[in-house]
Amino acid sequence: MNNRSRIQICSKASPEEIINDLNLFVDFQDEGLSLETLNEMIEKRLVPHLMRYDQPGFQSMFNTFPEEGAKFGSEIALTYNQGVTNWQVSPGGVMLEELCCKALCKLFGFSPNADATFMASGTYGNQEALYLALHKQAEKEGFNLAEKGLKGFKDLNRLVVLTSIDAHFSVKHAARMLGLGEESLRFLPVDKNRRIDVNQIKETVKEIREFKDVFCVFITAGTTSTGSVDPALPIAKICKDISAWLHIDGAYGFAYSLVPEWKHFFEGAELADSLCWNPHKQLGVPIPNSLLFVQRWEDFGRMSVYSEYFNRKEDPEPNPGLKSPPSTRPFSALSLVTSLRHQGMTKVIERLRAPLVAIKKFYEKLKKEDDIELNHQPDTGILCFRIIPKDFPEKELDNLQRYVYDRIMAERERTISLTKLDDKVVLRVVAISPVVTTEALMETISRVRALAKEYEK
Ligand SMILES: Cc1ncc(COP(=O)(O)O)c(C=O)c1O
Repeated sequence: MNNRSRIQICSKASPEEIINDLNLFVDFQDEGLSLETLNEMIEKRLVPHLMRYDQPGFQSMFNTFPEEGAKFGSEIALTYNQGVTNWQVSPGGVMLEELCCKALCKLFGFSPNADATFMASGTYGNQEALYLALHKQAEKEGFNLAEKGLKGFKDLNRLVVLTSIDAHFSVKHAARMLGLGEESLRFLPVDKNRRIDVNQIKETVKEIREFKDVFCVFITAGTTSTGSVDPALPIAKICKDISAWLHIDGAYGFAYSLVPEWKHFFEGAELADSLCWNPHKQLGVPIPNSLLFVQRWEDFGRMSVYSEYFNRKEDPEPNPGLKSPPSTRPFSALSLVTSLRHQGMTKVIERLRAPLVAIKKFYEKLKKEDDIELNHQPDTGILCFRIIPKDFPEKELDNLQRYVYDRIMAERERTISLTKLDDKVVLRVVAISPVVTTEALMETISRVRALAKEYEK
């Protein structure tokens, strides 16, 4: 193990110890503190408990350290504290966001009629997409969902969203918040690489056609657990045939469509009715930075609620606040723009490619190891696996993975994650930033092996 990965990436404090350190901050007193005093408190009592995303040992989640150009833009956004809702509140902010959305549509190959909006999170992007899909279904049934609500549907029991068992849980939130309930979601099985099974979609549609209306197919370009990319092209065709809305949750994975060698995974994504993407995952822009794309800009009209004091219907200027519910919106476009312009697209693509290559090489190396079971082929920057020492009892395997995970997380020299695939507990590593190299990932395997030996004793 080299010295770099020995850096503690977070303090080892217990929740109680962290509370002890932080209580002082929330003792709101009549007298104020100088910024020096606050800074000292922060350095001593808060920073040690923050996670270091800039370390090669951070291999568990989708967070990254800030990119220089992004940091620069976000400092400017903060200096002027711009709200980007409507023309009256920030003409420059509004126009930059609009231009950025249009330029991103072009960059990702959407049609000239497409549009996008910045959102507070991928969860809200997915929710808005499902609302738009439902709105379209209501129009098919001859009423306006915005006015009538769910009671306009002749039979709510007929409405179904098809998705996969590996879809992010935000699809459940969306179904709940829209009043459809989780029962309206049908979770389809995945194939051996954990991509949604296209034949299952076809068969399910055929099977349920008489008593259900599939109004939306919700697929994922980069699932949270394994980074698998559902095949958009054949699914877009099915959606067209059955006149269902296609939403792609590209919150994690869609950025990788910019990398030429990975582009084929995303073929057909530009045909989706809507797609959400989170630049805050791997681009190093400040959280939150999410986008929702729509194939037809008019679709955002279904979101619009006008008022008399701003966001007026007759305003000739753009009002981004008409494309999603929040009235006050952050100037997220600026940090994304400054980041992409500062690095240049060549470097942006190199930054995106590095973790993908790291995981691919890691997978190739592990294929040759007898004590590692690989649970899928990596489409993007995530790999799930199990450590299986020779002659180790099958029924103890879940406990072994849990033990290894708990010990690694307690050591605080690296982070990995734990998930379940088809009832098996598996270990999961993520390479999201260029500092997570194949070497750093192999060091994790050495530690996993050592801990497995420790468990056997
Ligand atoms: C595939 C996918 N979709 C949606 C989300 C939710 O995005 P957010 O955390 O911005 O709400 C995530 C978060 O990790 C995700 O991985």
